[in-house]
Amino acid sequence: MKRILVTGACGLVGSDLVLALQSKFGSENIIALDLHDPPKEFQGRFEKMDVRDFEKLKSLILQYDIGQIFHLAGLLSAGSEKNPDMAWDVNLSGLKNVLDIAKDHNIRVFWPSSIGVYGETTPKILTPQHTSFEPNTMYGVTKVSGELLCQYYHHRYGVDVRSLRYPGLNGYKAMPGDGTTEYAIHIFYGLIRENRYECFLSADTRLPMMYMDDAIRGTLMLMDAPSEAITIRTSYNFTAISFTPAELVAEIRKISPDFKIIYKPDYRQKIADSWSQSIDDSQARKDWGWKEEYDLPKMTTALYEGIKERISNE
Ligand SMILES: NC(=O)c1ccc[n+]([C@@H]2O[C@H](COP(=O)([O-])OP(=O)(O)OC[C@H]3O[C@@H](n4cnc5c(N)ncnc54)[C@H](O)[C@@H]3O)[C@@H](O)[C@H]2O)c1
Repeated sequence: MKRILVTGACGLVGSDLVLALQSKFGSENIIALDLHDPPKEFQGRFEKMDVRDFEKLKSLILQYDIGQIFHLAGLLSAGSEKNPDMAWDVNLSGLKNVLDIAKDHNIRVFWPSSIGVYGETTPKILTPQHTSFEPNTMYGVTKVSGELLCQYYHHRYGVDVRSLRYPGLNGYKAMPGDGTTEYAIHIFYGLIRENRYECFLSADTRLPMMYMDDAIRGTLMLMDAPSEAITIRTSYNFTAISFTPAELVAEIRKISPDFKIIYKPDYRQKIADSWSQSIDDSQARKDWGWKEEYDLPKMTTALYEGIKERISNE
């Protein structure tokens, strides 16, 4: 078989996706790429590289006879606000490099967009697939531009590029970073280490979320779907659950009744307030059969168990 390349492989999504792809297609067929060295427990093929280096990326893709690219390398919401120039460069030059190579070598591409594409003028409840996109963050600007670039490469050059607007993703196989929704992961480190957490969003900030296993399963479903089933070439709305910090805390208190939470909203509150509270992802459900498996209680248990084990191995 042709091999599969995962860029941004050491990140939160990549760490889970690489494992899922290795078990589905065999370790020897998966090439993990990242700017940073992999963690010591990583097993498999790994290349340290910057996705902005077109020539190096192209020769790696040809050398390994790559047939699919999951292009995850990029800066997230808070990181992009700290360094907008770098976000523009990595998020869009990296994507264009991947699409240019895909167009010449018949490669199927997955690229994640985000709920960061929404802005003040977007309806916040059950946000429709086709709506207003006026984000006020550099992250959102790169995601809207990236979606349009994907659609352009599909229509103009026939590139088979597929995309999901990921909601906040909650996993534990890599450390969470500085994403705005990642309080929902950090909170479990607070719970297990000191039975308290200082939350950078307010108690009633409702955001669309998903457990990582669902996100990985949905990503693979989309990539396996027949091309004619894919009616959206910008990016599909994609969601599972919507909850607030207070609702998550209520679940956590079923595990630890005296868990202490302090709300101290910071600059990320403004980012969160500009996003949707819930998403209408009926197009994904209709086109390729998307359905989540994790609700809030099931996700809470899975994250608690996973992070507890991770901390005990430190
Ligand atoms: N985590 C979420 O909740 C979420 C939500 C919506 C969309 N997404 C999207 O999913 C993708 C992956 O997100 P994540 O949470 O795994 O992010 P992450 O920050 O955990 O990982 C990103 C990885 O990309 C690597 N990287 C950064 N710049 C690079 C470069 N120039 N060349 C090669 N590698 C580089 C980083 O080293 C890191 O390992 C991103 O495109 C992100 O926008 C994530």
